[in-house]
Amino acid sequence: MRVEDLERDMTSVVPASQSRDSDFLFRNMTQLCLAACGDPRSKRILDVGSGFGQDAFALASKGAFSFGADPSVRMMNWARETYGSQVSWVQAWGEALPFADRTLDVVLCKGSLDHFKNPDAAIFEFTRVVKCEGRIVVAVANFESLSCRIARSVDLVLPRGRYGIRRPFEVPSDHFTRYDPELLLGQLSRHLSIEDIRGVSLGWGLELYSRWLARRSVRTSRIVLELADRLARRLPQLADVLVVTGRPRRSSMT
Ligand SMILES: C[S@@+](CC[C@H](N)C(=O)[O-])C[C@H]1O[C@@H](n2cnc3c(N)ncnc32)[C@H](O)[C@@H]1O
Repeated sequence: MRVEDLERDMTSVVPASQSRDSDFLFRNMTQLCLAACGDPRSKRILDVGSGFGQDAFALASKGAFSFGADPSVRMMNWARETYGSQVSWVQAWGEALPFADRTLDVVLCKGSLDHFKNPDAAIFEFTRVVKCEGRIVVAVANFESLSCRIARSVDLVLPRGRYGIRRPFEVPSDHFTRYDPELLLGQLSRHLSIEDIRGVSLGWGLELYSRWLARRSVRTSRIVLELADRLARRLPQLADVLVVTGRPRRSSMT
């Protein structure tokens, strides 16, 4: 029997400042996701798998009627204590959202879908609760990124442990799904009309690259990271994170 841990503590999953490339990746992913939600003023926006709640709070601060949903009691308490009642915090699974049909303007799911037991059911729920003209924004890590491909190739040549670095292509134990662009778009397009797919950052997780960036000036590392990010926007299949925006398909809601 599988037992769900409703006290789960995801504090280690969302990294605090670690390195320039990590900071860049998480900052840019957040900016892109929040921008993809559109003008939040007076919109009803739900962040599914809201974790610490910082994104739901950012949207509320910009004038949204913001909701944060997470099954973890611990994360809910954290968010509530940190951000208070400007956001409506709801303890819920993404696969069974306690919202009426077509009542939300935007559903955001950032860095969470790969933790869900049944992402297909959750994606259906996103399309059920969002209005016909509403928007759904999903961001996940790409395990076919350039970093993962390079690291996998190095791994074939140098036996494990010899080069002593983290293997970015290894899926963390708290992920249920190992996403790549094909799988993500395949799952989403069953229920959504995809409007946009964007890549964020290139090279994250390659320790030598990260160390190289750390030795450069702040300005130089920023320029390199920005250039790599521009490339990622054009080549999402190689990017570290994928951000997809779509609208509910009519057939999915009938
Ligand atoms: C990596 S955190 C991301 C949190 C937040 N979206 C962010 O970007 O900082 C993943 C979150 O998904 C939540 N989660 C896991 N399974 C879930 C499910 N089936 N439905 C909704 N949330 C889930 C976890 O409790 C956790 O807070």
